[in-house]
Amino acid sequence: MGCSCCRLVFSLLLAAALACRAAALWPWPQYIRTSHRRYTLYPNIFQFRYHAGSAAQAGCAVLDEAFQRYRKLLFGSGSWPRPSFPGKRFVLGKEMLVVSVATAECDEYPTLESAENYNLTINDDKCLLLSDTVWGALRGLETFSQLVWKSAEGTFFVNKTRIRDFPRFPHRGLLLDTSRHYLPLSSILDTLDVMAYNKFNVFHWHLVDDPSFPYESFTYPQLSRKGSYNPATHVYTAQDVKEIIEYARLRGIRVLAEFDTPGHTLSWGPGVPGLLTPCYSGSQPSGTFGPVNPSLNSTYEFMSTFFLEISAVFPDFYLHLGGDEVDFTCWYESNPGIQDFMKKKGFNDFKELESFYIHTLLDIVSAYDKGYVVWQEVFDNKVKVRPDTVIQVWRETVPVDYMKEMEKITQAGFRALLSAPWYLNHITYGPDWNDMYKVEPLAFDGTPEQEALVIGGEACMWGEYVDSTNLVPRLWPRAGAVAERLWSSNLTNNLGFAYERLSHFRCELLRRGVQAQPINVGYCEQEFEQT
Ligand SMILES: *[C@@H]1O[C@H](CO)[C@@H](O)[C@H](O)[C@H]1NC(C)=O
Ligand SMILES: *[C@@H]1O[C@H](CO)[C@@H](O)[C@H](O)[C@H]1NC(C)=O
Ligand SMILES: *[C@@H]1O[C@H](CO)[C@@H](O)[C@H](O)[C@H]1NC(C)=O
Ligand SMILES: *[C@@H]1O[C@H](CO)[C@@H](O)[C@H](O)[C@H]1NC(C)=O
Repeated sequence: MGCSCCRLVFSLLLAAALACRAAALWPWPQYIRTSHRRYTLYPNIFQFRYHAGSAAQAGCAVLDEAFQRYRKLLFGSGSWPRPSFPGKRFVLGKEMLVVSVATAECDEYPTLESAENYNLTINDDKCLLLSDTVWGALRGLETFSQLVWKSAEGTFFVNKTRIRDFPRFPHRGLLLDTSRHYLPLSSILDTLDVMAYNKFNVFHWHLVDDPSFPYESFTYPQLSRKGSYNPATHVYTAQDVKEIIEYARLRGIRVLAEFDTPGHTLSWGPGVPGLLTPCYSGSQPSGTFGPVNPSLNSTYEFMSTFFLEISAVFPDFYLHLGGDEVDFTCWYESNPGIQDFMKKKGFNDFKELESFYIHTLLDIVSAYDKGYVVWQEVFDNKVKVRPDTVIQVWRETVPVDYMKEMEKITQAGFRALLSAPWYLNHITYGPDWNDMYKVEPLAFDGTPEQEALVIGGEACMWGEYVDSTNLVPRLWPRAGAVAERLWSSNLTNNLGFAYERLSHFRCELLRRGVQAQPINVGYCEQEFEQT
């Protein structure tokens, strides 16, 4: 059968899915028609080429480099003998994929507003990828690479196919935590590659936290000198950060940097004396420290200078300012400076004090022409924030069920990101990807206007028990469940169909050199066939 209108057929009938197994795309496109008519690709001849009418032409780094990457992914880096094909048979071959984009933002960064739609047409007349932007072309190239298959004899084919595709949500993120454990540069770059295979488009970099401060600041070098695990080896230099941002850009991925305050900041303390609140035991300082001290002017002077640097280093419009899990004990337990400040300001509880700090910080960052994302506590504690603030939902049931929280946030008119059901660091026995897959981000009581405020979500990999030894198999293919939920139509929700394709995709990841863990009993045809 021709498998036309696959989306509809598949959500109704698993049998149809099995018949169409070769089109094992991940994530599944919005509209696809594919058939059994196949075209041969000769590795020695095949090329990616710019359409004469394309706004981007040779010299566009984003696409030039993508062409090279996908060539290598498809055929490996070896050389191929020239095929001896009789002219007639080549009618059913394809010499090139022609790429045409409407605008050429080759030197720019992708943004929340960037279009990622593309059309891919492979038939007797053409092999053509059309998109509005280079970012859409990147998504289409990935899809094309997943359409190509190899016969038992080793011949490459692509079937007659028509795809019209676009993401359901514009913010599809993956969080890595480089504070609980340091992740080497190569782990981050490799993750960006696999993110692109999954059409993720935001790398949420939770750079620093209580345990370590690996970001090398040029205005405050003592931060990492005193706060990292090892200032020679376990830091991200300015050069590393630049490399990560550019590597991400070339894959259509934004880098959303998070510097979480006022809690989760113990590692900031040694480098900036006076920044953290000294905790008291009775009338004496106990020698331990709490959150950033909100009662001192010097705190805000420090934050102004520090975030001026951060705003310049990270080109994305958005910064993540954290704001989660502020522990009030140290403020509460009679630090006299805090008490005086509260009295002077007329604050009755510590939420007001927290609110004062965060509000002041948000003003500082806004003045640098940045937008910001914060964790849900900022909303829950009723901090006054700008109306264009993005709120990230991470708590499963506190103070309410996460879907109720999505409802409340959007009801208040704020944009929301969902993460609560997508904590990849939580592991259990068995295939847990399907619980993540079944989540429907809009399953709350809300108007269409509220639904439109859900800009996407993020899979989170917190680092307490994760470093470069186990990062890759714990991420992949599980994070793929979130990637498809955020890219594909809400009707693409059949677990059996997803299982078939995710198993296949996991094998494809192995072929691409990614040590993705199995999701089932079985084996991969390509397991030992790395090109
Ligand atoms: C591609 O075509 C081949 C036969 O030419 C067929 O076996 C395979 O199932 C097709 N794949 C898809 C996705 O239609
Ligand atoms: C893709 O195809 C659709 C429907 O034919 C068309 O409306 C749309 O403009 C095309 N998109 C691009 C980027 O060419
Ligand atoms: C802190 O700054 C405020 C406003 O600029 C000022 O009124 C206050 O006196 C300053 N406090 C100290 C201790 O310098
Ligand atoms: C999918 O979205 C459409 C349009 O928003 C909606 O009418 C439909 O109920 C949703 N279906 C599911 C299964 O969520």
